[in-house]
Amino acid sequence: MAFFTHQIVRSLSLSCVRGAAIKHVTVIGGGLMGSGIAQVAAATGHVVVLVDTCEDILKKSAKGIEGSLKRVVKKKFADKPEAGEEFVQKVLQNISTSTDAASVVKNTDLVVEAIVENLKVKRDLFSALDKVAPENTIFASNTSSLPIADIASSTGRVDRFGGLHFFNPVPMMKLVEVVQAPATSQETFDALLDFSRALGKHPVSCKDTPGFIVNRLLVPYLIEAVRLHERGHGSKEDIDVAMKLGAGYPMGPFELLDYVGLDTSKFIIDGWNEMDPENPLFAPSPLLNKLVSEGKWGKKTGEGFYKHK
Ligand code: 3HC
Repeated sequence: MAFFTHQIVRSLSLSCVRGAAIKHVTVIGGGLMGSGIAQVAAATGHVVVLVDTCEDILKKSAKGIEGSLKRVVKKKFADKPEAGEEFVQKVLQNISTSTDAASVVKNTDLVVEAIVENLKVKRDLFSALDKVAPENTIFASNTSSLPIADIASSTGRVDRFGGLHFFNPVPMMKLVEVVQAPATSQETFDALLDFSRALGKHPVSCKDTPGFIVNRLLVPYLIEAVRLHERGHGSKEDIDVAMKLGAGYPMGPFELLDYVGLDTSKFIIDGWNEMDPENPLFAPSPLLNKLVSEGKWGKKTGEGFYKHK
């Protein structure tokens, strides 16, 4: 098993990260998003350290990455299983894990944070990392709904701080929203665009506005589907089928809510509602709130709008 605990010592010079390609990536947060980001970075030849607070989470992340890689190779190397296995091992060799973020970032080109959507927790993390990471290390957050500027201001490197917003499932979704906050330097922004391309993704440029592009459109649509159902104007099954067959979406809104997580969707809409209470697009949904309070958060808890095995 090539997935090893952190012990990488880099000999590469870090003298000019922004001018040179990003090679060493630290991903903080071993959940679904962090694991996915680590996987695609490793699969595209980057040296990756995946960091979380406890070994058990990291073991689960490693298992998830291996499982996802196997799905990727099953398709990509359908006729060459040996080459597929070789690819999996090569990718796994590019990833190590650690519970010690402070020591990992002492020698990294880019930190991508994908931890809990809590501004204080993110600020505390970046503020601590800022004290130990080299001056030229770029920091990025995968936040889906918090302002990048509010996270970046916890550090002394607001010019070397941007947003890198990935989509679930990261290995499959081609888009990365690259967010330029007002203080993000052009050099940093360009480095993040280049990094996204190096991952084989398609980057789009975003301003530091609520929900960037995708979530600003997607989340109100998802909640509107719940409201349609709450009004008794359609069953969730019919609404899902309608959007798949009538609009060509790969998943219906209820399937997607279960996939993304009802807790995550509620968190996003509640934050926007607080910010702009008059906007009907951001109004809370009683049904969504009820399911979240019952612990029915979707696929991750085994039940949301639907039951999952
Ligand atoms: N890892 C690797 N390969 C995967 C994978 C994963 N996690 N998920 C799917 N695949 C590949 C596999 O090859 C799989 O075949 P397999 O099941 O035999 O291994 C193949 O895709 C087909 O997968 P499925 O049979 O599960 O179903 P689909 O054909 O519907 O594809 C999907 C799955 C790509 C998830 C597709 O349904 C889809 O695009 N859904 C919409 C997802 C979406 O909108 N994501 C964005 C959410 S918003 C967000 O993330 C932002 C955040 O801030 C909230």
